[in-house]
Amino acid sequence: MIEKKYEFSGILRFNHWIRVVTMLVLVVTGFYIANPFLTPYVSGEPTNFMNALWRAWHIIFGFILIASTMVKSYLFIFDRHSRNERMSFFDFINPKVWIQQIKYYMLIGVHPEGRGIYNPLQFIAYFTIFVTLFVISITGLILHMHVYHDGFGGLIFDLLRPLEVWMGGLAVVREIHHITMWIFLLFIPIHIYMAVFNSVYGKTGAMDAIFSGYTWHKKKKKKK
Ligand code: HEM
Repeated sequence: MIEKKYEFSGILRFNHWIRVVTMLVLVVTGFYIANPFLTPYVSGEPTNFMNALWRAWHIIFGFILIASTMVKSYLFIFDRHSRNERMSFFDFINPKVWIQQIKYYMLIGVHPEGRGIYNPLQFIAYFTIFVTLFVISITGLILHMHVYHDGFGGLIFDLLRPLEVWMGGLAVVREIHHITMWIFLLFIPIHIYMAVFNSVYGKTGAMDAIFSGYTWHKKKKKKK
């Protein structure tokens, strides 16, 4: 018998797809900022500012990404339903689960029955992605405060300026921001591959979980 398990809440799934859209827009507009690949149409008036337009959209989506990262962090720490995510930490520090998981990926063992919903390798990958999100957001904010000196840009200037100096100056900050993007570009195809692998090989409908919220599991036999 197969039973369904409610894994991801509505807000968690919504937040995930917000991040997908923002990252897509940020990668395309980011590549444009790094290397403007479109030529603006020729106009007699000095009002084209195409580069500024792409950058403005980049910053708008950047702030949406920061907001969604903050919501996700809040959910991870405080949300009752996200307890299943937090419990994954105990699997992460359990060598037995590590060995079982590696055996599973080598196709010589069964999937471990962990306490949380993420296996140790998944947990470490998502943790790295959160550190990366933090780095790209901070470096993005430093770049932002040098574009808009008033309002929020002016407000964070004194706070983040020492960090910018510590990193080696604005050019280095821009370089770090750019290189960090490549961590996402490497992660995304691996993430999609692993999700499909787990879904198909593990027969748990793991891929459905991020759409419907549910995964499918074999019902455990009750002990007599
Ligand atoms: C997935 C997230 C992000 C990606 C992939 C990304 C990518 C990039 C890339 C590739 C560049 C060009 C760097 C270069 O010149 O080589 C850039 C510039 C920039 N990014 Fe991001 N970024 C992201 C998030 C953010 C965030 C959260 C903010 C903050 C609001 C931000 C603000 C900026 C600004 C202000 C610039 C510089 C614009 C300029 O030089 O005029 N980015 N980004």
